[in-house]
Amino acid sequence: MYDSILARSFSKHEQKKLGYVAIFCCFLIVLSFCTVFKPYLGPLPVLNLRLSIDVSGLKMLIVKDTSTSHLRLKDSTDSQPIEDIIPKKIDEPVCNITERSDFCEINNDIRIDGSSATVYFSSTHEANSSWNIRPYARKYDRVAMSRAKEWSVKSVQQRQLPQCTQNHSIPAIVFSSGGYSGNHFHDFSDILIPLYITSRQFNGEVQFLVTDKHSWWINKFQNVLRNLSNYEIIDIDKEKDIHCFPRGIVGLKRHEKELHIDPSTSPYSIKDFREFIRSSYSLKKATAIKLKDGQNKIKPRLLIISRKRTRTFTNTDKIAEIGRKFGFEVVVTEAESNLSRFAETVNSCDVFLGVHGAGLTNMIFLPEKAVFIQVIPFGGFEWLARTDYEEPSKRMNVRYLEYKIKIEESSLIQQYPIDHQVIKDPSSIGKQGWESI
Ligand SMILES: *[C@@H]1O[C@H](CO)[C@@H](O)[C@H](O)[C@H]1NC(C)=O
Ligand SMILES: *[C@@H]1O[C@H](CO)[C@@H](O)[C@H](O)[C@H]1NC(C)=O
Ligand SMILES: *[C@@H]1O[C@H](CO)[C@@H](O)[C@H](O)[C@H]1NC(C)=O
Ligand SMILES: *[C@@H]1O[C@H](CO)[C@@H](O)[C@H](O)[C@H]1NC(C)=O
Ligand SMILES: *[C@@H]1O[C@H](CO)[C@@H](O)[C@H](O)[C@H]1NC(C)=O
Repeated sequence: MYDSILARSFSKHEQKKLGYVAIFCCFLIVLSFCTVFKPYLGPLPVLNLRLSIDVSGLKMLIVKDTSTSHLRLKDSTDSQPIEDIIPKKIDEPVCNITERSDFCEINNDIRIDGSSATVYFSSTHEANSSWNIRPYARKYDRVAMSRAKEWSVKSVQQRQLPQCTQNHSIPAIVFSSGGYSGNHFHDFSDILIPLYITSRQFNGEVQFLVTDKHSWWINKFQNVLRNLSNYEIIDIDKEKDIHCFPRGIVGLKRHEKELHIDPSTSPYSIKDFREFIRSSYSLKKATAIKLKDGQNKIKPRLLIISRKRTRTFTNTDKIAEIGRKFGFEVVVTEAESNLSRFAETVNSCDVFLGVHGAGLTNMIFLPEKAVFIQVIPFGGFEWLARTDYEEPSKRMNVRYLEYKIKIEESSLIQQYPIDHQVIKDPSSIGKQGWESI
């Protein structure tokens, strides 16, 4: 019926014209929609389109994305449709050499050969190019980097690409679990947070390929890894197959500061990371207890982290006793290997106290507005204490306090004569590096 009314009202020619007008209107609506909502969507990436002849002789469009990678990251949802419509060929991989880590982001087919530690992608140029990347995010630390395998990222011509023996339909991320893994601080600062920054955008639809794999490390952080990727991790060093992916990232993005995500260069923040961690470990407490004068039924909980071998408290019992006197429920514990259980313990507390050391990284599990007390041993620890824990905790919406051990309180005076360099000038020891400290 509708058709016949239309046919009566308009001639064939007019109907055709009407069709064009309708398409134009749709286009206008979409355009104005984009314009209105643009501020909310963020800037659209600038796309450079040009025509070119492919190797095969077929005409195709080359899309050169001139926006920076962080912009693209932010806009990945708006730019995707454009990229889907237009067949794409990016001449160069986006290999970025930053202050703290190197990574290559290849938005094109890649082929990964674990036996030669090489990632291939096809080049439209005659010349070959190649980059060497150690996929661990603590670039200027020679010791850490020497424990991470070097990978090459190579562009070669189509016919020189190795044959795929396993095809994947999701993007790949290659990273190292070598370096300083096993140290809790480095686990988070050099691997987990960079991995979150690099992979969260894929919402689980990403394949992790780990190099320098340690099974204990993968087991320790399985809750986090499982929430970042829906697929079993591949130990790429052991693979004989050539794994092919529609795109991939070699190495991890990392921001300048320790235990930090800079929201000005990432769609995420450290707050998002903490929420993600709380969800991964099913941690219930989002905010610390709020004290009301004298009418609290529930006691605030104080967690004292005791270390056994180095930088130990010699009077843990007394510290706990004072805590109780002030109305705290006191928990004294050592950081334990079952991270799931330990994360629950930390999250259940309102105040977290410990001596400077990697165990303090567990503050990540604290609820918002908890209090974190760093005890700083006598000696050259100030700079490390500040950059590794004080500043990160303040960015995490945790209230920071510190207690500096005076020489009279330190057991060092029993070990060194009073005029020894260790006692007289501890900062000179600090300058000699971590081993000396
Ligand atoms: C590479 O790093 C520089 C400096 O950190 C940054 O300005 C630029 O946007 C980055 N580019 C890409 C493609 O990531
Ligand atoms: C590129 O590399 C291949 C081997 O991987 C070599 O056969 C070819 O000659 C190289 N091309 C140029 C232009 O260097
Ligand atoms: C992988 O995909 C390519 C291209 O679609 C195809 O030629 C090849 O046979 C596939 N290989 C395997 C092992 O499925
Ligand atoms: C992480 O995993 C847990 C348990 O499987 C799930 O309940 C939670 O929703 C996941 N969180 C995210 C952010 O994916
Ligand atoms: C770790 O602790 C959790 C309880 O918090 C428990 O469910 C899990 O089985 C423990 N894992 C191991 C390996 O002991």
